[in-house]
Amino acid sequence: MTQAILTPDTAPEAGAGAQSGGQSKKVFVKTYGCQMNVYDSERMGDALSRDGYEAVDTVEAADLILINTCHIREKAAEKVYSQLGRLAKLKKQRNADGGDLMVAVAGCVAQAEGREIIRRAPVVDVVIGPQTYHRLPEALARARQGESVVETEFPTEDKFDGLPKTPETAIRARGVAAFLTVQEGCDKFCTFCVVPYTRGAEVSRPVDRILGEAERLASAGVREVTLLGQNVNAWHGKGADGREWGLGELVRRLATIDGIDRIRYTTSHPRDMDDALIEAHRDLPELMPYLHLPVQAGSDRILKAMNRRHTAAGYIRLVERIRAARPDIALSGDFIVGFPGETDEDFEDTMRLVREVNYASAFTFKYSIRPGTPGADMDNQVDEAVKTERLARLQDLINEQTRAFGRECVGKVVDLLLEKPGRNTDQIIGRSPWLQPVIVDAKLGKIGDIVRVRITQPGTSGLFAEPAE
Ligand code: SAH
Ligand code: SF4
Ligand code: F3S
Repeated sequence: MTQAILTPDTAPEAGAGAQSGGQSKKVFVKTYGCQMNVYDSERMGDALSRDGYEAVDTVEAADLILINTCHIREKAAEKVYSQLGRLAKLKKQRNADGGDLMVAVAGCVAQAEGREIIRRAPVVDVVIGPQTYHRLPEALARARQGESVVETEFPTEDKFDGLPKTPETAIRARGVAAFLTVQEGCDKFCTFCVVPYTRGAEVSRPVDRILGEAERLASAGVREVTLLGQNVNAWHGKGADGREWGLGELVRRLATIDGIDRIRYTTSHPRDMDDALIEAHRDLPELMPYLHLPVQAGSDRILKAMNRRHTAAGYIRLVERIRAARPDIALSGDFIVGFPGETDEDFEDTMRLVREVNYASAFTFKYSIRPGTPGADMDNQVDEAVKTERLARLQDLINEQTRAFGRECVGKVVDLLLEKPGRNTDQIIGRSPWLQPVIVDAKLGKIGDIVRVRITQPGTSGLFAEPAE
């Protein structure tokens, strides 16, 4: 922090000058959490760039600091408050130098805490939730008049209607693989999770909006889209004919768009994995053989207490059906250890399920209390030391499966989408159908090309490959 202040173009005076000149305002955006937050930050960036803002990558250079927060981890709100404490010092110093630094807090902590954020951290000018961020430029304008703005109600209008379309240049700058939000919110109410409270009820975007956005992405050179939603396979958007579509049908339609060669979606709930979607995996080469399908636990007793509404056996049967339709599909998942009441036996059920399914990768978490969720009030909380031990065992098992998956890939011929330059100038990095980064010779093609290669060896930061012929 201190270092950057010394350089002339990032000094506080530069910020003050930009502010009084009013031409090029600068925004620093920091994003936490899931891909939905990454997507939301990009869209807020688009809206701000129409408002004359330019992105910078240090807080010292910024006229506006925008923090897009996540509420999924323990003490998330406390971490935001301590960050805001540090920004308060920066703002005080900047304003003493005649500047006018603004601070906005967006995302799921903003939604959960609301006005409390401004009460505890008066440094904040704007608090804006994930459902209302299209109103950010207007909220900033009000804040400039001296108002403390809190925008966290769930709107009835489609927030995407309020947003300007992403300019093609912005899409190009972001590369050949893009996210596309199709669904937001969640009605599942797993007893450990804050998402239904922070993101609200499940809402699906209509078909024509999604197709329109996909076509714009394709015409700007995007070749891979990842459909996003907290519960993406619960998507049930309205078609032009008024009929409701499911995700399988949507994927089928997206695959016909010229230029869209690869489709992914995340995150799925086992309950919403329907036949049409499984058939899409069977029929569509464009639908990548990789599925993030969290199960959370392997004990039916715990699954019930989590309100997951599926059993371990039901999940395994589902995995078998998916693998029958698309044998090369790789699975990933999320696991929580130490949910209230989890016994050694329950945990062994989770280990057994992991052995049976065999994952390509997975995220593992210790259960931690989210105030306001039913899990927080359960009186049979598990000892921290027990959670730590279970987490280590589960992680060992999953790491072993991930390494085995990498080894099994050696010798396979796969199509890579070349995405970015490698660390060495003679290398380029592509993405395998199974989401692995693969390093190849830069002479093989340019960014945006899909090239056929043979995987030669696993490495620490990805696989290596050579031309297939
Ligand atoms: N919508 C997705 C993921 C939501 S959050 C789904 O339904 O799978 C991402 C992951 O964080 C969850 O899958 C869960 O494993 C983990 N998580 C959520 N709340 C948690 C909590 N209170 N303690 C520990 N892990 C949690
Ligand atoms: Fe949270 Fe469960 Fe909804 Fe996933 S399905 S977002 S874990 S409540
Ligand atoms: Fe976090 Fe909100 Fe995503 S709580 S995981 S940013 S939906």
